[in-house]
Amino acid sequence: MANEASRRLYFIFLMCAWDEIFGKIRYSIPEELERGAFVGNIAEDLGLSIGEMRLRKFRLVSDDAIELLKVNMGNGILLVNERIDREILCGPSLTCSIYQDVAVENPLEMHRVDVEILDVNDNSPSFTKTSYSLQVSELTAEGALFPLESAHDPDVGTNTVSTYQISTNKHFGLKTHTRSDGSKIAELVLENPLDREKESTFHLTLTAIDGGIAHRSGNARIVITVIDGNDNAPVFNHNIYRVNIMENAPKGNRVITINATDLDEGTNGQVRYFLTSHVSKRVQELFRLEPETGQVRVEGSLDYEEKNTYEFEVQAVDNGTPTLASRALI
Ligand SMILES: *[C@@H]1O[C@H](CO)[C@@H](O)[C@H](O)[C@H]1NC(C)=O
Repeated sequence: MANEASRRLYFIFLMCAWDEIFGKIRYSIPEELERGAFVGNIAEDLGLSIGEMRLRKFRLVSDDAIELLKVNMGNGILLVNERIDREILCGPSLTCSIYQDVAVENPLEMHRVDVEILDVNDNSPSFTKTSYSLQVSELTAEGALFPLESAHDPDVGTNTVSTYQISTNKHFGLKTHTRSDGSKIAELVLENPLDREKESTFHLTLTAIDGGIAHRSGNARIVITVIDGNDNAPVFNHNIYRVNIMENAPKGNRVITINATDLDEGTNGQVRYFLTSHVSKRVQELFRLEPETGQVRVEGSLDYEEKNTYEFEVQAVDNGTPTLASRALI
């Protein structure tokens, strides 16, 4: 017990003492150096000769199982002992140092060596997925924004993601923002209105680029599906349909089939046919228009002597919300 306490006291003394008595030594090295790479001439910087180093039992004091640094006792040079990966050692922290204690005996001295590990642009930005899909209504207003996934680059400072680019296309641009922590995020901007009937999918490439001296980059595909909006009205194949029919045509006889097509998809493009509200009661007694097929059939008895020409308006209406319609004359 007494032994433990005195050792503790001794350490407290040491900790107080060394900051005052002995200066710190600082070195800076880039990460990822080869094993055996030069860090600093520690013997010279501590003012020890090679002989003194041996006599005074110079040693690195370390709690870590893996010793990242070692000393060549033959020349007093501090060396890299293990590959040092700044990202593993310090993660996203902007500064990264190894604190190495050095001890010599007779008299006992402790020195602190700080080895600053500088970031090297050894990582490329990457996205968590290779492809992202996005659905955009063709009715979306210009200027609308769509957030994009951020890329990750474990390097720090300028070596991490600094810009984003989108492949050249006529409709989508990119807006990049800087978050308060300095990281960059990108949003897709609709710069030109979409038209699903002209182009219904886009395959774009999003590129994240880091700010390292030799730029590194990573890509993701953005697949945009344009969702249909009801922006097309049905269009009749004729503005005016003309047809002759015998007065003795039996009930149910087909007079004519009208046809309108709608470029929209699904219900937005489903067309049904109706007589307009202006059509007279008498016409409605004589003719029937089937909403689904556009077939006009004889419904009553036609009499040439009563009237030999009928003219009436029909409309084609789609099933979108809201509906769109167009008119023609029979
Ligand atoms: C209507 O016109 C379209 C386009 O010409 C055609 O594909 C379709 O078959 C026509 N429908 C009828 C009922 O005639």
